[in-house]
Amino acid sequence: MIDKGRARTSSYAPALFYLTRILSYGKGYIGMKRIGILTSGGDCQGLNAAIRGVCKALYGEFKDGVEIYGIHDGYRGLMDGDYHRMAPQDFSGILTLGGTILGTSRQPFKMMRVIGDDNRDKVKEMKDTYRRMKLDCLVVLGGNGTHKTANLLSEEGLNVVSLPKTIDNDVWGTEMTFGFHSAVEVATNVVDCIHTTATSHGRVFIVEIMGHKVGWLPLYAGVAGGADVILLPEIPYHIDSIAATLEARNKAGKSFSILAVAEGALSVEESKLSKKEFKAARARMQQPSISYRLAKEISEKTGQEIRVTVPGHFQRGGSPCAYDRVLSTRFGTAAAKLIKEQKYGHMVALQNGAIVPVPLGEVAGKLKTVPVDCEEILSAREIGITFGD
Ligand code: F6P
Repeated sequence: MIDKGRARTSSYAPALFYLTRILSYGKGYIGMKRIGILTSGGDCQGLNAAIRGVCKALYGEFKDGVEIYGIHDGYRGLMDGDYHRMAPQDFSGILTLGGTILGTSRQPFKMMRVIGDDNRDKVKEMKDTYRRMKLDCLVVLGGNGTHKTANLLSEEGLNVVSLPKTIDNDVWGTEMTFGFHSAVEVATNVVDCIHTTATSHGRVFIVEIMGHKVGWLPLYAGVAGGADVILLPEIPYHIDSIAATLEARNKAGKSFSILAVAEGALSVEESKLSKKEFKAARARMQQPSISYRLAKEISEKTGQEIRVTVPGHFQRGGSPCAYDRVLSTRFGTAAAKLIKEQKYGHMVALQNGAIVPVPLGEVAGKLKTVPVDCEEILSAREIGITFGD
């Protein structure tokens, strides 16, 4: 294991460290706060804006009484001791930057307690790095999986404060995650562009939209883009119902149709399967994704030619939209306040328009799915959008 953060200091480092502290006595350095920050899981727009929000607010709260350490590639860097000391200028000019300046990686929660062939105890390594870095708090920016591990580390005695990020908007406890609205903009733009070509050719198009196991992103992009059919994981579809919608549109003289399909969409038959059976059925599926299977099935039923567009990771890229820049900044500054108040073990969340702390134990392991009777779905139905049910 390489402790890159430590490797960058000289062998005189411990002596120099204490000397600096002694010389700095009286300047307030004795109470120096040491904060580690990491981004984990799939990236999204607004991560850098949130990092900037946390760190600028920390400097505001503690002045020069805080040291910030950027941990590389999420929990991987915490395990490996891979980090570097950051300076105030590192947080300037990154508000509009996509991705994450700290790097990220997926470290599945279910493997955290598993000692693999490499004989590594991942939880112990993370705790060891935290202690060796003498951190007062670890700030974690992440989605669902990340929050399970954040909660685990908190239960193991580390001081953790977290921020909810993901284009999926599926983190429990917050009405909104940053990244979501930017991805909605991108996906909506795809649906808009497909609309023009679909109209010209009189074709049926499927646009497959990310969101993992929940339908927030396809719902919002579908409604915003004026899709005719929206398929969500929360509302299993009947293939006959979709075919009937398309045929009714044909009869009404509408030669084109747009289907906004969640990558996690599933049929009524599939919804009745156990998790294991569902996995096996999908493994047998010959098409690369649900949209291609749907295209084949609908085409067989209606005789219509179907085109499929999968924007994929495009939806996570680029600059955050204005809404996400503001939300990331609000979350960031709220996280810094929690650190100042030593209110650890919480995620900052948006509830009823205000930023509030929610205990990590309440967030971890829950999924915020789309309620099938939510106002967005009801109003979409009112204007004739169908959901395949
Ligand atoms: O969680 C964000 C997300 O983009 C999901 O919408 C999608 O299912 C998944 O990540 C893709 O994961 P990966 O980037 O690992 O391919």
